[in-house]
Amino acid sequence: MLSAAVAGGVFASPPPASILAAILSLHSAGASGVLLIVKNYTGDRLNFGLAAEQARNHRVAVDMLIVAEDCAFEQPSKAGRRGLCGTVFIHKLAGALAEEGCSLDQIVSKMTEVLKGIGTLGVSLSPCSVPGCLPSFELPPGEMELGLGIHGEPGVKRSKVATADEVVKMMIDHMTNPDSQSHLPVQSGDRFVVCVNNLGALSCLEMAVITRAAIVSLESRGVIVARVMSGSFMTSLEMAGVSLTLMKVDQETLRLFDAKTSACAWPNISSVSVSGRSYITDSPAMSTRPQEDTHSEGPLSPVMCKVLEKVCSTLLEKQEELNALDRAAGDGDCGNTHAQAAKAFQEWLRHHVVPGCPGQLLSVLAGLVQEKMGGSSGALYSLFLTAAAGHVTERRSNAAAWATAMHAGAQAMRRYGGADPGDRTMLDALCPAVDELMKLTSATPGGEMTVLQNAVQKAVTGAESTRDLTARAGRASYIAAERVTMPDPGAVAVAAIFKAVLQSLEEQTSA
Ligand SMILES: *[C@@H]1O[C@H](CO)[C@@H](O)[C@H](O)[C@H]1NC(C)=O
Ligand SMILES: *[C@@H]1O[C@H](CO)[C@@H](O)[C@H](O)[C@H]1NC(C)=O
Repeated sequence: MLSAAVAGGVFASPPPASILAAILSLHSAGASGVLLIVKNYTGDRLNFGLAAEQARNHRVAVDMLIVAEDCAFEQPSKAGRRGLCGTVFIHKLAGALAEEGCSLDQIVSKMTEVLKGIGTLGVSLSPCSVPGCLPSFELPPGEMELGLGIHGEPGVKRSKVATADEVVKMMIDHMTNPDSQSHLPVQSGDRFVVCVNNLGALSCLEMAVITRAAIVSLESRGVIVARVMSGSFMTSLEMAGVSLTLMKVDQETLRLFDAKTSACAWPNISSVSVSGRSYITDSPAMSTRPQEDTHSEGPLSPVMCKVLEKVCSTLLEKQEELNALDRAAGDGDCGNTHAQAAKAFQEWLRHHVVPGCPGQLLSVLAGLVQEKMGGSSGALYSLFLTAAAGHVTERRSNAAAWATAMHAGAQAMRRYGGADPGDRTMLDALCPAVDELMKLTSATPGGEMTVLQNAVQKAVTGAESTRDLTARAGRASYIAAERVTMPDPGAVAVAAIFKAVLQSLEEQTSA
């Protein structure tokens, strides 16, 4: 692709002697001609120009191509259009032509044509960071800079940070605005290759979001996105920003773009024709929403409804307490995740009748926690409820059936969660309580309330006991044991749920 690269100091042009040395070494290696690909900065134009003249004196066939595809400036400016990431396209296409044996003149004239159809615009949330230097410009939080260069030069316009879709749209509007002197003409039906270039400090996640937004925005203008490359191709030292480069292509340019190269920095995308449509299919997310139909009330409905309401209000009251416990050992959102589940239940209750079949209710709740609670607790509760659901039906909903269902739920949590009692997780409250409940499978009728009260006591004691346990599973296991002196929030939540169920049932039997 390229035979040589000449580096200067950070953000400075290389001295002519270095450039001449590179040219002469290629010449002595047998190059029939040397093309200098230079970005439009004064220092580079001067130094490369000087080296080119010196090389001609050595009878080397040299030519120079200036890349100036910057779309930032609306008015003609003294600084002129700079060379930005579009230069990488020229490296690739000129390299491919040279590989095919084209003459220097042919390459220069072909590339001069191609350059007319290339445009680049950058946007950034931060200045770049030059080692040992102060930032080249200040950018307050919440603002972004449009149209900046790759050497820490400030841009042409500042605005409030917006969503990726909005920012990309603003960039493409700016690049293609016919009122702007430096715009790139883009028409519906044109074919373009797109480069989404990381200016240095964006994550892969952010790059993927912006890349998708670019494809969507271009296709909505009727542009055919022929190829997409996304990654770090021309960075600006740790700058949290991105540039978009568009290159208008025909069959011939696309062929050169696709030409094989062993340059390790060139992404191997040539075999794949990237169609935006494969990116933008908004496939409906697999909905875990429970079926809305066939729920009919039964004699148990009012009881279960009251219990569920009590569990919800309890979890909402406990939100801050659980968050505080979680801050000691986790990320402090345990109360929030439980509150999310509670709010989802409340919302569901507002629009639905509680089915008479307890198993059906548990399945609904399983779907809701999976969808709305999130995280591993969402998955664990969902497993619990799903496994329990099959054991309580409209016809089999006595105390023994409930105990069996709770036991099946706890077993599923253990099996898939990989934790055991003693590992400082919600199981430390759940398992002792469920073991107690299992007495219901053999208890003589009448003693149910006592068993339930004992089970709640076991859950509370179990949760309290987690103070002395070293975490062996879950998030807290990553924290040094001596720093964790509070009970596990997940276990505390389980105990609170048990307590709420008991309270509600007691209120309802005494009423
Ligand atoms: C390169 O920049 C100079 C100013 O430094 C400007 O006059 C010139 O028009 C630019 N070249 C191109 C091809 O835009
Ligand atoms: C690029 O990918 C193709 C298959 O998609 C593979 O055959 C080829 O060897 C790859 N080229 C490089 C340089 O890795």
